[in-house]
Amino acid sequence: MSNVKQAVVLVGGLGTRLRPLTLTTPKPLVPVANRPLLAHILRWLEAAGVEEVILATQYAAAAFAPFLRGWRGVATQAITEASPLGTAGAVANVRHLLRGATFVVNGDLLTNLDLRALAALHQQRGSQATIATAEVDDPTGRGVVVCDAAGHVVVFQEKPAPGTALAHTINAGTYVIEPTILDRLAANQPAMWETDLFPALIREGVAIHGAPLPQRWVDVGTPAGYHEATALVLDGLVGTPPGVASRAGLWIDDNVSVSAEAQITGPAALAFGAIVAAGVEISGPAMLGRDVHLLPGAQLHASALWDGTLVERDARIEHCIVGYNCYIGTGAHLMNMVLGDHTIVPAHSLNLLPKP
Ligand code: GDD
Ligand code: MG
Repeated sequence: MSNVKQAVVLVGGLGTRLRPLTLTTPKPLVPVANRPLLAHILRWLEAAGVEEVILATQYAAAAFAPFLRGWRGVATQAITEASPLGTAGAVANVRHLLRGATFVVNGDLLTNLDLRALAALHQQRGSQATIATAEVDDPTGRGVVVCDAAGHVVVFQEKPAPGTALAHTINAGTYVIEPTILDRLAANQPAMWETDLFPALIREGVAIHGAPLPQRWVDVGTPAGYHEATALVLDGLVGTPPGVASRAGLWIDDNVSVSAEAQITGPAALAFGAIVAAGVEISGPAMLGRDVHLLPGAQLHASALWDGTLVERDARIEHCIVGYNCYIGTGAHLMNMVLGDHTIVPAHSLNLLPKP
């Protein structure tokens, strides 16, 4: 049994790389395979024996209230910073609620990391902070973590300039911390784990460890990450979509209507009320939100359509994320686009971007 019973989930960032979607939906609430990302995260924490979760909210804090009202699961409360305190300042801000070793999680992660194993390593090593790490081909835009043979972190290099990364081992955004390491932070002052606290603790020789546990891991904070996250859930590697898996890789919720003359190649998730007309072609990984309607001849490839979107006849959508309640006109062709809520795409228009 893990005796880490509390978790702080950092959900206060701006989510700039997923704009315009995050102008109306904060990143942790974007639907991934028809569940808010945060629901996948909370289930993962709950399954590891966490009994109390604190959401550190800031940007779009009010948007979390309806989610929490509907949440049935691990006890979760939101604490909002008056102004952004950064990733470590946000945890220091809830320090008074923490009773012992605590998980700290970036709220844009989807992973099947074994949290109990992480907690066990932390405790066996008598660590002050344990950072879950992952091996990546390209560490650009990540925090690079260099450990010695005993697993002590000796360098934490946040977002190295291209060509300067010291390793391909990165901070995967999940930590176990002893709350006392926060005591050095001044109240209500912004501070980051990545650029302030971890480097300072390492300099002082405080025991900070890396944990290279195997995990499937994705940062959902970019369009590419979002698509990868959808695939991870639909492939059954992390979390579950709502509905029942009808055949390999197809998740069908209640009240879904699929024409016998439609062709769906999974993996795909179809949410409550979705309608797929005759002659529609869908190939995964694909997500159709609640009440999404695809009219005859529409084609959807490796894309997510959020709730309430209507796709007219013969429209073609490839590698796109389409926000809530959009309208895609007849014969329009979209490729590699991210559309904000309520976007109207005229009939027969071409909106083709190169792959980012
Ligand atoms: N409450 C609060 N307040 N939360 C914040 C704040 C803040 O001021 N600033 C950021 N956050 C939250 C974000 O919402 C996100 O969930 C998390 O902190 C990390 O911020 P990102 O903006 O997503 O950081 P990143 O992806 O560029 O880099 C981080 O994650 C990488 C792994 O995905 C770093 O931790 C890297 O070291 C790491 O490799
Ligand atoms: Mg991120």
